[in-house]
Amino acid sequence: MGDFPTTRTKTPKPKPADETLSFGKVLTDHMFLMDYDEGKGWHSPRIVPYGPLSLDPATSVLHYGQAIFDGLKAFRGDDGKVRLFRPDRHAERFNRSAGIMCMPELPVDIIRQSFDALIGVDHAWVPHMPGTSLYLRPTIIATDVFLGVHPAHSYLYFLILSPVGSYYSEGVKPVRILASDSHVRAVKGGTGEAKTAANYAASLAGQRDAAAAGYTQVLYLDGVHRRYLDEVGTMNIMVRIGDEVITPPLAGTILDGVTRNSAMTLMQDWGLRISERPITIDEVMQAGRDGTLREMWGTGTAAVVSPVGTLGYKGEDVTINGGETGELTRKLYDSIVGIQYGRTNDAHGWTSVV
Ligand code: COI
Repeated sequence: MGDFPTTRTKTPKPKPADETLSFGKVLTDHMFLMDYDEGKGWHSPRIVPYGPLSLDPATSVLHYGQAIFDGLKAFRGDDGKVRLFRPDRHAERFNRSAGIMCMPELPVDIIRQSFDALIGVDHAWVPHMPGTSLYLRPTIIATDVFLGVHPAHSYLYFLILSPVGSYYSEGVKPVRILASDSHVRAVKGGTGEAKTAANYAASLAGQRDAAAAGYTQVLYLDGVHRRYLDEVGTMNIMVRIGDEVITPPLAGTILDGVTRNSAMTLMQDWGLRISERPITIDEVMQAGRDGTLREMWGTGTAAVVSPVGTLGYKGEDVTINGGETGELTRKLYDSIVGIQYGRTNDAHGWTSVV
């Protein structure tokens, strides 16, 4: 596609100080748009000033939620270079989400070009302070103006950018999580492995109830047996019991997390025993009681690695590693962040300079 028609804003926004950044509240000056129409395919890529979209109230995405998104980050390294972390893997996942949600795929190289082009225009928005980054949010929504339920014939791809600090205001600090025996996030055969709006809507009530009970996040169990670990909040979950690190398999209900994959790859490099296997909440609670549950953490793009200090289930709490961040959790965080900022050797070629 090459160069994209670009309309620059005449009213650039003031940039907030890096120290004040939290997650997702500030958006940059421009956005990338592209349309899809059946028979015509993807067309009219363009970069325009950031602003509201005008949608007819009968636009199908507003009613039936045919929407996908992804989330990835660009980091300004100590050497001044801006690096995207695993953009191809994110673009491929975006297309897998599209397939599950009956939406048209977008060629990976065009997704990549949209990332590079928009970051090029809003380059000055990539923050400098350690721990900060530029979050990219590629999204596709169904734009048919029609109240019938069907896969749409027209779509909008948009990419927006947000300079961010820590996802959790408390930074990398162990959180309290509650394994829910009442809420379910996804079931096999549904949309659990797509990054689609509905999954996040489905997670809100469990999150609300966990917060009301004094926990930071909810740990979802599978929807059939209500026994097996699925996901924690918006993240994948990993537990270290004895000398084994266990994470639930990609069996249709959980997201194929990019940080999950990165963490598993690094741990394999380090010679650790990693098992992708179903694991029950009873096994984890028992390990918590008998002291073999050494560490537990969530993985996700937004927070990277989030240690679990307390796990609650059916009225019982177990404390993990004395409520402190474990050594492997810390090593994973430092290693992934080191690669993202270009401080440590990127042996797997995960970063791509923009
Ligand atoms: C992530 O961990 O990156 C997420 O999925 C969170 C995002 C939906 C805000």
